[in-house]
Amino acid sequence: MLDRQENEMLTREIGRSGIEASAIGLGTWAIGGWMWGGTDEAKSISAIQASIDEGISLIDTAPAYGQGVAEEIVGKALKGRRDKVVLATKCGLVWHTQKGNHFFDYDSGPVHRYLGKDAIIFEVEQSLRRLGTDVIDHYITHWQDPTTPIDETMEALELLKTQGKIRSIGASNTTADDVRAYLDAGQLDAVQEEYSMVKRDLDASMAPLCIEEGVSILSYSSLALGLLSGKVGPDRVFEGDDQRKGNPRFSMANREKVARLMQAIEVVADAHGATCAQTVIAWTVQQPGITFSLCGARDAGQAAENAKAGRIRLSAEDLAIIDAAATKNLTNLDG
Ligand SMILES: NC(=O)c1ccc[n+]([C@@H]2O[C@H](COP(=O)([O-])OP(=O)(O)OC[C@H]3O[C@@H](n4cnc5c(N)ncnc54)[C@H](OP(=O)(O)O)[C@@H]3O)[C@@H](O)[C@H]2O)c1
Repeated sequence: MLDRQENEMLTREIGRSGIEASAIGLGTWAIGGWMWGGTDEAKSISAIQASIDEGISLIDTAPAYGQGVAEEIVGKALKGRRDKVVLATKCGLVWHTQKGNHFFDYDSGPVHRYLGKDAIIFEVEQSLRRLGTDVIDHYITHWQDPTTPIDETMEALELLKTQGKIRSIGASNTTADDVRAYLDAGQLDAVQEEYSMVKRDLDASMAPLCIEEGVSILSYSSLALGLLSGKVGPDRVFEGDDQRKGNPRFSMANREKVARLMQAIEVVADAHGATCAQTVIAWTVQQPGITFSLCGARDAGQAAENAKAGRIRLSAEDLAIIDAAATKNLTNLDG
């Protein structure tokens, strides 16, 4: 049965920030190219603009996505459209200093997890410049830094809020203890964590904690890096530095299991005049505590398809069909 609100873009508030955005957000990791086999700037710009045209008002990026590339592309795409979106970016994966905790090596040198006050004050200016804006609506600590107390990080973020450079605070790749420490130190409005039909760890403790504390969850990789788009068949080959190359999550056995899951999802999708990818995304934002779902898109077609998921409302019966099919088909996945 179709919900009477079907066709309206679902919007929600980010924590208690007073900032409202579409429940589906466009993620721009792939648009930065790094770990995704490169990027195409023109296609990326049209993906961002198509999202906005379809009613998406949440765009998530990060300095780490191509060491500034994604932020710069987002900045170009938003010229003349900045007021239409809630813009989220991140801090804490740094290459201008070697303070903090070594995380990985990029072509140009080491990247550290570092959330000291000095770095946050430096990083925000870099992001504002690359994004071509004077305010970041949602500013997120990208990965947690074991060398800096959360109190110090939060003090820097609260200062930026007072200065009007950011409007709300998020934290990503956290534990429940991190979340409690952020809440003790200031106003945490959201966490950003991996969540999808193939990775549901948040259900156990993080989602109940966030519901209790009024903290939003922005789920990332909700399409499981594209595996749940319904379009990764046996012939799909991943090239270059694409993280999916050799990734057990994309094994042939997994692709077969997901294909069987998609057969069940298709029945629900058809009833809504939707695609499987849209149905997967709609399912995600109807899970308890999952307030927003960030989905990557490489071109205008994918962006428009994903955006339309925000207009679908799945019934309890639809959700039960999908959950049963996921339980049946997604056990013992590789990766
Ligand atoms: N905070 C963090 O640490 C963190 C980590 C990961 C992600 N994120 C954020 O979350 C966002 C979303 O996650 P994600 O990009 O990792 O993964 P995702 O959304 O699960 O997958 C994105 C990829 O799936 C494919 N795809 C997307 N829509 C499709 C469609 N309609 N039809 C066919 N293929 C489609 C595209 O790749 P192909 O076309 O190449 O197949 C796209 O790049 C990121 O962009 C980023 O903003 C944050």
